[in-house]
Amino acid sequence: MNTCVVGLQWGDEGKGKIVDILAEEAQIVVRYAGGANAGHTVVVGDEKFALHLLPSGSVRQDAICVIANGVVLDPECVIGEIESIAERGISLAGRLFISQNAHLVLDYHKAEDQHRENALGKNKIGTTIRGIGPCYADKIGRSYAVRVADLCDLDTLKEKLGKNIDYKNKLFSALYQAEPMSVDNIYEKCKLFAKKLAPYISDTTELLHSSIDEGKSILFEGAQGTLLDLDHGTFPFVTSSNASSLGMSAGCGVPARLVDKFIGVVKAYTTRVGQGPFPSEQDNEIGDYIREKGHEYGTTTGRPRRCGWFDAVAVNYSVTIGGIDQIALLHLDTISSMEELKVCKAYEIDGKVTSFFPSDAGTLAKVKCVYETVPGWDEDITGVETYAELPENARKYVNLVEKLTGTPVSMVGVGPKRKQTIIRSR
Ligand code: GDP
Ligand code: IMO
Ligand code: MG
Repeated sequence: MNTCVVGLQWGDEGKGKIVDILAEEAQIVVRYAGGANAGHTVVVGDEKFALHLLPSGSVRQDAICVIANGVVLDPECVIGEIESIAERGISLAGRLFISQNAHLVLDYHKAEDQHRENALGKNKIGTTIRGIGPCYADKIGRSYAVRVADLCDLDTLKEKLGKNIDYKNKLFSALYQAEPMSVDNIYEKCKLFAKKLAPYISDTTELLHSSIDEGKSILFEGAQGTLLDLDHGTFPFVTSSNASSLGMSAGCGVPARLVDKFIGVVKAYTTRVGQGPFPSEQDNEIGDYIREKGHEYGTTTGRPRRCGWFDAVAVNYSVTIGGIDQIALLHLDTISSMEELKVCKAYEIDGKVTSFFPSDAGTLAKVKCVYETVPGWDEDITGVETYAELPENARKYVNLVEKLTGTPVSMVGVGPKRKQTIIRSR
């Protein structure tokens, strides 16, 4: 059984937790897109792991972990993660495989990310400054790219770095009056990265296909969320990869038809970090309540997340373009104790009502949400273990999400821990 888990909102839906739970039944867990902009939280007992590049299955000692070609790899970050989880008793030796075709995020990408955001001023995207956009831009542009495989040939790497950094220095000096970066400095760092990462570098496409031939089950872990997808999200307020399930095949070389189930993760409300339109945003005491109760602060940057009501129009769109079979609805506990709840069920744009999500940021900024208001529940549900035990209004809320998205909710989250997840059907 091969399963793909993706976010259906603007990221931070709780993919890490769902992947960790499903990893119990998978032999291989694959990260296939994004980079260290992701922050995936896994809670094991009383221990919390915040993973940026390692697949969330890493915390399970028996899982094979793959970082596939579609990822942009910050070597410093991944080495830090490997070492830090090793200090916590979890070794990745012999079970982590990093694609030779993944592109490297180096210091000049992070510098460029920062320069570009500064230069955009009030029009900035609100990126994580992890060098994601500049690295993917170099990948698409081809001429100035560096891949993981280049760490295996240091002479060629030095030549490439010389050419790339010379180009970036001219660019940064002309556009941003920046001080030049030293090739030697970055090359010395890369030598160290090469030594530490060499044991993990491999052809992950071959590994995945031979594993499929052997009948192993694979779990594909998406990063970010469908509405941040470069092509299908709220451009330009998106990330630079195909963060929807559509990015899975290109990101790891496995065709979508080999995936048995696509699971979309959503929160029982909506959050967004960074700039861009957000129709159901509650920039008021409701949003503040959700933020505090749900601990809605970025895993990667610590920024407060913008919070709002559940947007069924947006999720419906993500389900449609992503071929989503089932929904995992998390943070139902966070909206307990609210007298009434609202769910956005249609959009009004220039006086016309529509139920199809307009991904164009300009159009989306004009949206007025049409809400359905439903009664909340008072009970603390963080200890509830079965669906039947949920308060009636909580079950009605889940049913409303199912009805408005046309998709069954197979998992319900009532807290951050593994056990605080109600499994309705697999
Ligand atoms: P990801 O990027 O999609 O993996 O999500 P993040 O880890 O960035 O953010 C999700 C946050 O919600 C994390 O702090 C999780 O521990 C937490 N979480 C996940 N599921 C639930 C849930 O059902 N209830 C509550 N209260 N917290 C949850
Ligand atoms: P996970 O995997 C939430 C957002 C940034 C910004 C935009 C572009 O934890 O769900 P980037 O650094 O990618 O160029 O920033 O995308 N963003 C995320 N928001 N969760 C994430 O990842 C995100 N990764 C990027 O805040 O608005
Ligand atoms: Mg996150």
